[in-house]
Order: sequence, then structure tokens, then C-alpha cells
Amino acid sequence: MSDSATTSAATAVAVRVMEGTDLEQVLAIELASFPTPWPRSAFELAIAAPDLLSVVACSDRVLGYLVGCPDVNDLLIANVAVHPRARRDGLGRRLIDQAVDHARELNLDGCKLDVRMSNECAQRLYDRLGFEPHGIRRGYYQHPAEDALHMRLRLAR
Ligand SMILES: CC(C)(COP(=O)(O)OP(=O)(O)OC[C@H]1O[C@@H](n2cnc3c(N)ncnc32)[C@H](O)[C@@H]1OP(=O)(O)O)[C@@H](O)C(=O)NCCC(=O)NCCS
Repeated sequence: MSDSATTSAATAVAVRVMEGTDLEQVLAIELASFPTPWPRSAFELAIAAPDLLSVVACSDRVLGYLVGCPDVNDLLIANVAVHPRARRDGLGRRLIDQAVDHARELNLDGCKLDVRMSNECAQRLYDRLGFEPHGIRRGYYQHPAEDALHMRLRLAR
């Protein structure tokens, strides 16, 4: 992706349901974003599961994605990432907003997620969207080993 392509693409981005044909681009972003990336099979399962939310933010190509699943009375945001060259352009916020809207449509109580303690960028995003710290999960991550900060957004009724 060239810088100019990223800039023009970011001006006309749609958020839509993830499809099988998105997976090559989704996996490239996943590999660039996480030390322990999800395998293709995890995304294939997410696409196939009717109760999971799997969306991409895309222009002429995939720029970001989010996977969420209902968990007890909340929507668990299980995965979210934006292409490294498309970051700081509001796409992460749009994807989380989509998840929050989905949780409201399902009449759930809130949204929740886990984030590496060192991932201050993501924590700042969640904080700005109203998520609050809800405890630390010791040893939650491996490769590298790290605790997780559990964060939750309570939805108003
Ligand atoms: C976290 C991530 C999804 C954010 O996506 P994004 O599209 O860059 O986020 P946005 O542009 O919507 O940012 C919204 C706000 O979040 C905060 N934020 C996002 N990235 C930040 C950074 N690098 N440094 C500081 N604040 C940041 C800012 O408050 C920002 O608002 P601002 O740009 O008006 O200051 C993206 O950085 C990413 O894919 N990271 C790698 C994967 C990852 O960590 N996923 C989360 C796992 S829990």
C-alpha cells in the first residue's frame, strides 16, 4: 500500500461484514499488528458463526477489522486492528463504534475487551470511547508474557 493510496482510501471508508475474499488482506494486517496473530482458521470460524460480529473497514482494500462475540451480557471485542499505514485516521474508533452499536442492537449491557498492559495506544482509544479499567488478568498473554488490562464500557439503557 503506498502512502498516497492510504490517504485517498481513508477519505471514503465503509464498514461492512467481513467476507472470505477479505482474508488475505485481513491476515496481512493481523501479522503486522500482533506478536501472536490469529490463524486463518480463527477468522474463517468468525465469518461462519452467525452470532459473531466480523466487520472490515475498507475502501478499495481492507484497512482494518474487528471481531466481536456475545459473552454473558456483554459483547466481547476479541480482535481489532488497523493497517499500520492507516492508523490515527479514526478507523479504530469507527470499528469500536460499530461494535458498540451492535451491542445496543442486541440489547446487551456493555462491551468488554482485554488489552496488553504495554499497549498504551489502544488503551487511549478505549479510554476516549468511555471504556473503564475493570481489573488486571495476570499472565493473560504469552510471547511475550504480559498481563492484560480488562476494560469495559457500560451501555446506558
Ligand atoms: C489500536 C488501533 C486499532 C487504533 O486504531 P486507529 O485507527 O489508529 O485509532 P484512531 O485513529 O481511531 O484513534 C482514536 C484515538 O485513539 C488514541 N490513539 C490511537 N492511536 C494512538 C497512538 N498511537 N498514540 C496515542 N493515542 C492513540 C487517540 O486518542 C486517538 O484520537 P486522536 O487521533 O484524535 O488523538 C491501532 O493502533 C492498531 O491496529 N494497533 C495494533 C493492534 C492493536 O493493538 N489492537 C488492539 C488490541 S487490544
